[in-house]
Amino acid sequence: MREVKNHIETNCVQAGYTPGSGEPRQIPIIQSTTFKYDTCEAMGQLFDLEAEGYFYSRLQNPTCDMVAAKICALEGGTAAMLTASGQAANFFALFNIASNGDHIVASSSIYGGTFNLISVTMAKMGVEATFVAPDCSEEELEAAFRPNTKAVFGETIANPALTVLDIERFAQAAHRHGVPLVVDNTFATPINCRPIEWGADIVTHSTTKYMDGHAAALGGAIVDGGKFDWMAHADKFPGLCTPDESYHGVTYAEKFGNAGAFITKCTAQLMRDFGSMQSPQSAFYLNLGLESLHVRMPRHCENAQAVAEYLSKHPKVETVHYCSLPTDPYYKTAQKYLPNGSCGVVCFELRGGREAAGAFMRELKLAAIETHVADARTCCLSPASTTHRQMTDEQLKAAGVPAGLIRLSCGLENKEDLISDIANALEAIPNAD
Ligand SMILES: Cc1ncc(COP(=O)(O)O)c(C=O)c1O
Repeated sequence: MREVKNHIETNCVQAGYTPGSGEPRQIPIIQSTTFKYDTCEAMGQLFDLEAEGYFYSRLQNPTCDMVAAKICALEGGTAAMLTASGQAANFFALFNIASNGDHIVASSSIYGGTFNLISVTMAKMGVEATFVAPDCSEEELEAAFRPNTKAVFGETIANPALTVLDIERFAQAAHRHGVPLVVDNTFATPINCRPIEWGADIVTHSTTKYMDGHAAALGGAIVDGGKFDWMAHADKFPGLCTPDESYHGVTYAEKFGNAGAFITKCTAQLMRDFGSMQSPQSAFYLNLGLESLHVRMPRHCENAQAVAEYLSKHPKVETVHYCSLPTDPYYKTAQKYLPNGSCGVVCFELRGGREAAGAFMRELKLAAIETHVADARTCCLSPASTTHRQMTDEQLKAAGVPAGLIRLSCGLENKEDLISDIANALEAIPNAD
């Protein structure tokens, strides 16, 4: 008899929910805020984390858990949870281990919203950060760590700079200092890269992007790789390694082990107190997106590759950033971590800066101007005028986002149609010289 291995394609379609005889084929949407119990004792067991089950959808909901289990399988983790947005996922993943008086090392080449979260909002909460370029020297990386550093953070493929994180190198540095590496894998998706296999400890997602894939539902996810030994660094992680008085003295790392401590604490404390749960309806939409993720990602990549190649030969284009182009500075790193394709997003700078970018975007017919990426429909935006507008010119430069950059997210349309649309829009902009 042949072994059914459950490859990633099979997990996209089937993981997380296996109906019994006569049960719904599609995952049921448990649209209920609360759950009924026969006795106070039975419910008390849940509050004590002594039994598994549901009592209030602010903390956990069965539909969300089924979808989280699918994402967990796709990333090769041991536990996972959904959040209301990607922002919530990154905040929870970091705040679960770094609080007032602590410090984070983060790549400077990350999504503007996450940069703001770490550099402004978390700073107000007493968590300091040191940002390093993803291709910084070994000395610079080492110098970024402090005795109170609690995590290292980066994006597999950064939005919108499209730099590629050397996951193994950052994981090794994090582990040398006894802290985990948290990787936002939104752009690559587990179809193209599974950071846990390269040493990352925690993986986050804005599921709003490729996982949903249809601009239908906001969401986020956190996956624990289950390999980080919290107890071996108990002095650094008291929240996981000493009793939680707000949960009847439970010590998460002891009771749930490396496989379950991080997500259990994150659910029991942060979800309880901040309440950023994904709605079951959104989780249902997300699951529909996940069912075709493995079919859609190669097509996004094929379209982006064709568009990037076209743009790189066009006289009105100054530079093209796409790590799957052999001329890209991150090509070598991408070949290691993303050999089957990177993502559908291409960034490029037009000769003529902001003005040319505005004129070009106005002329596009198929590609729409949107604050979004990773949709089935092609969309574009000027990061410096929108998502990254809170950054100074210096910060923009450090993040690899020059003022005249255009971020084009190639959808699932016919690639020749996309190129024709781009060619017409390029034609319409006045010559820079
Ligand atoms: C890489 C990355 N992480 C996190 C986020 C935040 O996700 P959300 O918009 O779902 O809160 C985004 C949003 O664009 C992103 O691109």
